[in-house]
Amino acid sequence: MTVDMLNVALPKGRLGEKVYAMFEKAGFECPSIKENNRKLIFENPEKGVRYFWVKPSDVAIYVERGAADVGVAGKDILLEYAPDVYELLDLDIGKCRMAVAARSDFRDDPRKTLKVATKFSNIALNYYTAKGRDIDIIHLNGSIEIAPILGLSDVIVDIVETGTTLKENRLEVIETIVPISARLIANKASFKFKNTMIESVLTHMASQREESK
Ligand code: PRP
Repeated sequence: MTVDMLNVALPKGRLGEKVYAMFEKAGFECPSIKENNRKLIFENPEKGVRYFWVKPSDVAIYVERGAADVGVAGKDILLEYAPDVYELLDLDIGKCRMAVAARSDFRDDPRKTLKVATKFSNIALNYYTAKGRDIDIIHLNGSIEIAPILGLSDVIVDIVETGTTLKENRLEVIETIVPISARLIANKASFKFKNTMIESVLTHMASQREESK
């Protein structure tokens, strides 16, 4: 890894574009990233920066293992996988919440094991363990909302942003577990060896966050 280049993992998608705009404003621009192609790596040697577009849920893996020095990941991913990285800043974007949802006719019977369908098994387990509730986790990879409709589970634990997905599947939020937003994260060794660049990103992003409030 080159010591003078800052390697940045960006979450592919709408959030990633917002995040890149923040890096650009912080002085780490890379004009080639705006070319309309399917390339995944872009660099600007003059500014000493290299960007990778990665799947949002993979950002923390790149950063934890040092393939990227910094990145932006959702708090949901950080809570679920607890990667060994520094969480430097809440960017106050990509806001949503982790919630428990069920059919409107669902009535909880505390004597029964609660069947919970989710992509976020650790978050769900920690949440119900803290409440002393016995649960059975059904780990799914997507379309979680279907589970209570088909009787696969009693409730789901999932991300709610606008609430449209729940509404369209006739589910409702019964409890909010935790608010979620995007976080700037850094690899622990990079934070030491590329400290000047990372501190510069951090300072600029913190002031951009304040400006947008
Ligand atoms: C999330 C989540 C819900 C939806 C909630 O899925 O799993 O399905 O967004 O958003 P809403 O409240 O605005 O309707 P996402 O689009 O991230 O895709 P995936 O979980 O299927 O990968």
